[in-house]
Amino acid sequence: MLILTSAEEATAISKEARQAGKRVGFVPTMGALHQGHLSLVRTARAQADVVITSVFVNPTQFGPTEDFSKYPRDPEKDSAMLAAEKCDYVFLPSVEEMYPPGATTWVNVEGLSEKLDGRSRPGHFRGVTTVVSKLFNIVQPDFAFFGQKDAAQVAIINKMVCDLNFDVRIVVCPIVRESDGLAMSSRNAYLNPDQRKQALVLYRALMRVQTLADRGESNSARLKVAGEQVMAEESAVKPDYFEIVNRDVLDPVADISGGALVAVAAYVGSTRLIDNIVLTGKGTASAPR
Ligand code: PAF
Repeated sequence: MLILTSAEEATAISKEARQAGKRVGFVPTMGALHQGHLSLVRTARAQADVVITSVFVNPTQFGPTEDFSKYPRDPEKDSAMLAAEKCDYVFLPSVEEMYPPGATTWVNVEGLSEKLDGRSRPGHFRGVTTVVSKLFNIVQPDFAFFGQKDAAQVAIINKMVCDLNFDVRIVVCPIVRESDGLAMSSRNAYLNPDQRKQALVLYRALMRVQTLADRGESNSARLKVAGEQVMAEESAVKPDYFEIVNRDVLDPVADISGGALVAVAAYVGSTRLIDNIVLTGKGTASAPR
């Protein structure tokens, strides 16, 4: 596996591969890799001829009081994990490479970027869509792989790709969970053993909604109350939102019969965690698109 640090080099390598008739698969990450990321790399490996993973902790998607400086960074370990998955290239740019002095252009998906996480993290999705646009322009992939865990991010990236005619196919991969149900996240590393147990309430709340939906409850207001009641059982966990929304436009739905995204965000100590399930409307969690 080769490590690339310059955007020019990454573009040249991708261009060469595509000219040779190879399909380029791209996995954008912020590093601190876990099995969730590796599942994206494995899917990319299965679907593309050349796999490029980026590891870049993107400063523009962190708010001024968020965890940019303490976000876990271990590029050597990440590179070893990627090499073991037979990733072909890891793109590890510096902040200056991605944001040269004087850069003033933003990409923003208006409306969607202010919903769910965007409500409590102003500017977050603008940072995500700006860096993902830049990465797409640098790597010019045929396919890009994203995790369903960031469900709002998925909706926003899909909208951006459609609105701006990016020539890339977005592939969404299922959430990878620990054996007790906790969704894998780089931020789980912040949790102490007590908080690790408390964090399970997010999954329990989602499973409560799933069970009720399986039994035929389709009223979103009642499902939301049931999920919020489970969240309230863990007083150490401070909910940010518990929402039942349309998975594309992220607006609340009154009824889940046509399918819905059930998304939760909460603070465990100072660590903000998110999780979600997708209801098909027939009472079963569907595989993500
Ligand atoms: O999902 C992430 O890890 C980040 O938001 C992404 C897509 C790599 C952009 O920095």
